[in-house]
Amino acid sequence: MEVIVTPDRGSAARIAAKIVASLLARNPSGVLGFATGSTPVPLYQELIRMHREEGLDFSRVTTFNLDEYVGLAPEHRCSYHSFMRENLFNHVNVAPQRIHIPDGLTDDIETFCQSYDQQIRDAGGIDLQILGIGNNGHIGFNEPSSSLASRTRIKTLSAQTLRDNARFFGSEENVPKHVITMGVGTILESRRCILMAFGESKAVAVAQMVEGPVSSMVPASALQLHSKVHVIIDEAAASQLTRLDYYKWVYENKPR
Ligand code: GLP
Repeated sequence: MEVIVTPDRGSAARIAAKIVASLLARNPSGVLGFATGSTPVPLYQELIRMHREEGLDFSRVTTFNLDEYVGLAPEHRCSYHSFMRENLFNHVNVAPQRIHIPDGLTDDIETFCQSYDQQIRDAGGIDLQILGIGNNGHIGFNEPSSSLASRTRIKTLSAQTLRDNARFFGSEENVPKHVITMGVGTILESRRCILMAFGESKAVAVAQMVEGPVSSMVPASALQLHSKVHVIIDEAAASQLTRLDYYKWVYENKPR
């Protein structure tokens, strides 16, 4: 993992956006994996700025989102469909027919999940997957104890995630308990990952992900098995890393 510690979210977003832009410069038909939550919002704002001011072109891009709540219609204000429209898709030129987000209303979840993984394969695989991390170390909605080989499937949210996400729904009781999420195995198949994390509440999860043992109890730790992961975090999220000085040294002395 390449650990990049930045002074603030804006700098993190700019570094991540440059990685996205350089991928699209090499391959304008790239396949991007997107995440929701508050963490990627500054990245999406930077991508929108680059689209408007620098002509960053999404017209040939294909996208796959990590997850969606079961039972929420795409129009529901808390659905991840709505999140992506509001925070990115309404503001850039992604072709609607190439946007993929799990269908929270499907009446055959198993078949849907298999076909979602197949659609990713048919698109040639995900070139770059954007990730956040839950306070409990989840990626996508792969809660602790998720199989590290898991594929897209239905998951039941943990009590902690229900609490963490209650802020979007007004109260914990309104948060759907079930979700469809790409599996850890699905995520590991993407060619490159950017995981961002900000704030002290993420510090323990970040340290376990980077320095802890690979364990299904911290699903993000599976990223240690991936050869191209950029972990872009602020000082607060980096505060529990024991080898922080080394990561900073490596980044400052990065070979050209
Ligand atoms: C949700 C999403 C994750 C995200 C996590 C952290 O559970 N499914 O993809 O990483 O929240 O959210 P936030 O970025 O708001 O801290």
